Amino acid sequence: MKLSQLREEFFRIFDNRTDEPVIFFSPGRVNLIGEHTDYNNGFVFPCALNYGTYLVIRKRNDNQLLMNTLNFDFSDIQNIDNINKNISGEWVNYPLGIISEFFDRKIQLGGMEMLFSGDIPNGAGLSSSASIEMVTAYALNILYDAGLSNLELVKISQHAENSFVGMNCGIMDQFAVGMGEKDKAIFLNCDTLNYHTVPLELNHYQLIISNTNKRRGLTDSKYNERRSECEKAVEYINKKESIKHLSQLSIQDLHLLDELIPDEIIRKRARHVITENNRVLQAVKILENGDIPQFGKLMNESHDSLKDDYEVTGKELDALAYEARKIEGTVGSRMTGAGFGGCTVSIVHENYVDSFIEKLGKAYTSITGLKADFYKPDIEDGVRQI
Ligand code: GLA
Repeated sequence: MKLSQLREEFFRIFDNRTDEPVIFFSPGRVNLIGEHTDYNNGFVFPCALNYGTYLVIRKRNDNQLLMNTLNFDFSDIQNIDNINKNISGEWVNYPLGIISEFFDRKIQLGGMEMLFSGDIPNGAGLSSSASIEMVTAYALNILYDAGLSNLELVKISQHAENSFVGMNCGIMDQFAVGMGEKDKAIFLNCDTLNYHTVPLELNHYQLIISNTNKRRGLTDSKYNERRSECEKAVEYINKKESIKHLSQLSIQDLHLLDELIPDEIIRKRARHVITENNRVLQAVKILENGDIPQFGKLMNESHDSLKDDYEVTGKELDALAYEARKIEGTVGSRMTGAGFGGCTVSIVHENYVDSFIEKLGKAYTSITGLKADFYKPDIEDGVRQI
């Protein structure tokens, strides 16, 4: 939607007063490699997308907080001095969580009108929630002159999602959405939060995101289950080696898993985390050297590990990833995000993009009965004022 239309919608929904609202944008993200490693203090390699969330926002002179969206039917009015979580889990919990974090830091906020509008497919694992959180945090920081750094806003957003929304996510999504740079991927160490960006020079190749359009039903409970399994693995390892998290182990330590973890499932989860961290390290170097086919190979290995060891893929994601690999011009394909549904990310030679979409679309429908959607994303900057 054009910015002028967004402004018009804002004036249609709220009072048509003379003072102008301010507009902000926060992207979604796609993770190229490094899945389910962030909450294990490991490595991730995401980038920010051109799809995202707009926030049109204006201060009020009273204490009313008006929250509206062009994406869902639900809107809300609250008193800013006494905000309440929505118990049906409506989208307003994302901005409310951020507001609550600002109050926890003793930052004074007043009444506001907020209009959100996003084009990230909902529930597709492209971080629409982190995008709403970050756009709110960034806007409040500017509107109320709070002087917080982008990194602090990233941490606030993750904390809001953990404690207010109740989803125990790691830091990758908020970080990618907050710190993304145009045409670059972010290599992030989730333990130290040190990072550097790597130019995403794909030359004759193109990123394609394929959406299973399968809603990620049990994602939250399965996600938390995986987190506990990783904690369990740390407990087993601690019988011999003192570690705080699995990412302290490297590929040379894999033998420890066989020696110290009697439970086959827990052993597999730990193996995924260790091998995935290793793949991210390799992938970053490979991308820096411009070897796209080799990068694709690591993406395939990542998907295999997420399927066999971490068990977070499922029929739909597997259909997309494995059928993609059979198509000429594809160098790699893997699930991205939490899994169980959502999207895959593939790298395809530019000459084969159309045939990829056609062939994969058909194969996917014949296997699952569902229709996939395809996006050719651009990699863009992180959260910003428009
Ligand atoms: C979700 C979470 C992230 C990360 C991924 C899996 O997107 O929000 O923190 O754990 O799953 O890599």
